Amino acid sequence: MPSEITPTPPKYLQEEETLPLELKNIISTLPKEKGWLASRLYLYQGFWYPVRHLGGVINCQNLFRPNETDIFLSTTPKSGTTWLKALVFTLTNRKTHPVTKNHPLITKNPHDLVPFLEIKLFVDNQVPDLSSLASPRLFSTHLPFNSLPEPVKLNPGCKIVYLCRNPKDIFVSLWHFTNSLKPQDTKTNSIEDVFDMFCRGVTLFGPVWDHVLEYWKQSQEKPDRVYFLKFEDVKEKPGECIRGLAGFLGCPFSEGEEESGLVDDILRMCSFEHLRALEINKNGKLSSGEENKAFFRRGVVGDWKNYLSDEMADKIDGISKEKLGGSGLIV
Ligand code: A3P
Repeated sequence: MPSEITPTPPKYLQEEETLPLELKNIISTLPKEKGWLASRLYLYQGFWYPVRHLGGVINCQNLFRPNETDIFLSTTPKSGTTWLKALVFTLTNRKTHPVTKNHPLITKNPHDLVPFLEIKLFVDNQVPDLSSLASPRLFSTHLPFNSLPEPVKLNPGCKIVYLCRNPKDIFVSLWHFTNSLKPQDTKTNSIEDVFDMFCRGVTLFGPVWDHVLEYWKQSQEKPDRVYFLKFEDVKEKPGECIRGLAGFLGCPFSEGEEESGLVDDILRMCSFEHLRALEINKNGKLSSGEENKAFFRRGVVGDWKNYLSDEMADKIDGISKEKLGGSGLIV
């Protein structure tokens, strides 16, 4: 009789059993709740993490050393991280990688061009050698500001770009995303299953509101270090946003570049329609097992209207008002 082969689960579903003892000891002291995708989420420094990511968070907090010229792209999951990576990579590398049909985005997913600190570089106890990366080095992170490695917070040269999004769209996007990554033989989450968790903040790198607020405050206090963008603004006035971003990052568009239409070329290269249609994003996978196509769903503003009841929408809006009220930030 042929023996049954159990397929190895993708890395993003890694559970506690595979962890080093030191990490097992740390997580045994942390509050935990049922996860959306992996079995559990753990509360660490006020935010919720699946166990594999938590290992990466602690490892990166202990080991990452920034350079003065580093650029960090920060988001909560489903705020448009993939888009931001594409835009900033194209913008900052436009001299070495002109926007042509040989551009790296044509054959690589944005997540492979701008690696996550805690989810990619420092995950699974890795100690990456980052010394040979060209300057400015581009990294991304879902870490809340207060949990960034201390040397990043203290280094006055490091620049941070934060992208936020309306929490109702984040919720709907995250619900679809986590369901799309579930193995075929497991039950998907109904929207009701996860709505209450989202509102309580029990979500990947949540609570969303606390995450956004930490970066918002930093951007107000240190506008030369933290640049705050909204997904909805980038959709509505992309040219203005990308010019602002280029100025903040110290690589403003020259007159010649403006005249040649480079801004529109970059926006077209990074557009949802263009990226989603590429072979690499239709059929490729990340090294952690996620299919690239899971990062390109609809890419619009306000898709929540197709999924949330009035009551659900009011509840999220109420939390936004309560948590962000008085901060000057409206999401
Ligand atoms: P939807 O699920 O609402 O479509 P993240 O990159 O942080 O994981 O966020 C994913 C969300 O950004 C998804 O939202 C996805 O479709 C959208 N997205 C990805 N690439 C985009 C792009 N180039 N332009 C606009 N939205 C994009």
